[in-house]
Amino acid sequence: MKRAAVLPRKTLVEPGTGLSPAVALVDPKYGHNVAAALRNCAVLGMQQLWVSGERAIEGWEARGRLPREERMKIYGDVAVCLSDRFLDAYKDTGTTIVGVEVMATATPLAHFEHPEDALYVFGPEDGSLDKVTRMHCHQFVILPTSSCLNLAVAVGATLTDRRLQRQRKGLEPVLPSYATTDDQRGFLDSDEAFTWGSGG
Ligand SMILES: C[S@@+](CC[C@H](N)C(=O)[O-])C[C@H]1O[C@@H](n2cnc3c(N)ncnc32)[C@H](O)[C@@H]1O
Repeated sequence: MKRAAVLPRKTLVEPGTGLSPAVALVDPKYGHNVAAALRNCAVLGMQQLWVSGERAIEGWEARGRLPREERMKIYGDVAVCLSDRFLDAYKDTGTTIVGVEVMATATPLAHFEHPEDALYVFGPEDGSLDKVTRMHCHQFVILPTSSCLNLAVAVGATLTDRRLQRQRKGLEPVLPSYATTDDQRGFLDSDEAFTWGSGG
């Protein structure tokens, strides 16, 4: 079987290279969740997807060439950046770091004002946001579920709520149904065609 293109090695990041809005996944465990999060980021207007840790990326590489459904053209609009120091990229950018986590002190999503320039940070499937990451978060939000959501579903729910709130505020248009999914049908040639961010 043909091996996947080797993903770029992790690099240190330069301050100021963090774009927003964006999502960061802290040490995710499963490549399929990263792929699903990437899809959510692409269809809900995120500029970057940061991934820390090695686990999911090793899983992603081990799967070989991604299936067609996981390399839709629109995925190429999001820069996937591999770095354990993604928070450094947002130094002095004015970005609001939002921890999305099950925490007693987090703001319920129904009362949460999505910041214009936000980095949404999510914990791993088998844990939660670590203390250092939490210390860097300016705000926390909790989703209204009776138990934890799957990681990629949590990303999708958060970003969908962001879009709905922006639409209600008139910051994004509410498109007629026939124009809502403007699918760029077609697929990237290979996973090499993703926009891999250098992270600075
Ligand atoms: C599957 S959950 C973590 C699992 C959980 N800590 C456990 O092992 O019992 C993965 C991540 O999704 C996000 N998440 C899932 N459900 C959430 C909720 N209801 N509110 C906020 N974040 C949630 C958080 O970022 C969390 O760290």
